[in-house]
Amino acid sequence: MSNMIAEDRRYCWHPMTQHKTEPDPPVIVSASGASLYDENGNEILDMISSWWTCVHGHSNPEINNALKAQVDKLEHVMFAGFTHPPAINLAKKLAHALPGSLNRVFYSDNGSTAIEIALKIAYQYWRNKGETKRTKFIAFEKAYHGETVGAMSVGKSCGFFKDFGDLLFDVDTIPYAETWEGDHDIEAKEKYALEKIKKIIEDNKNHVAALIVEPLMQGAAGIRFSRPQFMKAVTDLTQENGILVIYDEVAVGFGRTGTLFACEKIGVVPDLICLSKGLTSGYLPLSVTVATDSVYDVFLSDDPNRAFLHSHTFTANPLACAVALKSLEMFEDNNILQTIEHIEKRHIEFLNDLKTQYKIYMPRVMGPVMAFNIAKEDGNYKNNIGEFLRNWFLKKGLNIRPLGNTIYLMPPYCITDEQLTRAYNLIREGLSQIEDISKVA
Ligand SMILES: Cc1ncc(COP(=O)(O)O)c(C=O)c1O
Repeated sequence: MSNMIAEDRRYCWHPMTQHKTEPDPPVIVSASGASLYDENGNEILDMISSWWTCVHGHSNPEINNALKAQVDKLEHVMFAGFTHPPAINLAKKLAHALPGSLNRVFYSDNGSTAIEIALKIAYQYWRNKGETKRTKFIAFEKAYHGETVGAMSVGKSCGFFKDFGDLLFDVDTIPYAETWEGDHDIEAKEKYALEKIKKIIEDNKNHVAALIVEPLMQGAAGIRFSRPQFMKAVTDLTQENGILVIYDEVAVGFGRTGTLFACEKIGVVPDLICLSKGLTSGYLPLSVTVATDSVYDVFLSDDPNRAFLHSHTFTANPLACAVALKSLEMFEDNNILQTIEHIEKRHIEFLNDLKTQYKIYMPRVMGPVMAFNIAKEDGNYKNNIGEFLRNWFLKKGLNIRPLGNTIYLMPPYCITDEQLTRAYNLIREGLSQIEDISKVA
């Protein structure tokens, strides 16, 4: 055991980790592009962008320079009563990049707080308008929105928070019309889901504050896709009934569905949108909750209590904002959406080939994200095959974390053709390690 590992074991408490049984983690000492390097000089391809963050890859020279330039000017200033150029410039750029009048940027530090803020804004929006009975939230089955109490409440059907059930508020859940390549039942599933949503809205007239959605892809639930037309129908139906719609684009924002934001692909303007993860390309903790002008206007008043009285110490940290601004500029300057189309094509070719070798289930590709299931049952984090494969891939130099039965890739956009081929070949080899996987004759 290395010194570093011994000290990690002595002092660190890792997320999502049972320390009694978990093997020692690699000690990562440097990174570049899609590659991580451990203390022994081994390369690990980061095929899931370090929890879906580093869209432009690790230690990107353009972002490094933006960070270095900012650090010599201003590292931090409180954002209540003060402002600064990186926060102003980033807010302006985001407002221009987002559709419709999504113009009012509220900063925080991570995806969960961005969600918590959206829920609180939606709740107070109705109180400010005098509709104090609108206290309910609607969410999709299996949705995951983060780890704070409000985020856990709207995500409680994902099943990760059973121990905290008593702490959480009531939420109505609606079916999610999941789809994949070769799915012939999607229209019936969408029709059923829309009828359920209609019924919940009718049964709760004037009591619903907002619907919260992971648009086009449920992430932690097992990379479950839905169709843009379904998302549009849900969003239109909800907004036509005067209910606010919150888009949780924490995972899918910044190119993960093939467009910069999922709402663009769907063709709607949600009332609130939450972004994080790819916002700083994984460099620094930052998130935003962006509201439309009409939501924002409801908080303007001579009464100070009608303001949104919410704060975090590191709100709009200048270093994080400078990095996020550079990352956003790079999408245009470096033609990233075209690169994503290329990755999508490679994923499709790989899955078509894999299907000729192994019996895989629910193959699916959206932009730079590829997923398939290795068994029929639903994904489950405690699934042993997933854990076995994660450790096997790591030993072979790949960072892939199956979600239960779902194997997926979500690489940084700087991934090279050679690196993709290496990952695909290792996935083929990994599947050959599973005893009961069916081979195609
Ligand atoms: C869709 C979605 N929302 C919210 C979150 C929470 O973000 P964070 O882990 O930064 O708190 C996540 C994290 O994976 C997510 O996937």
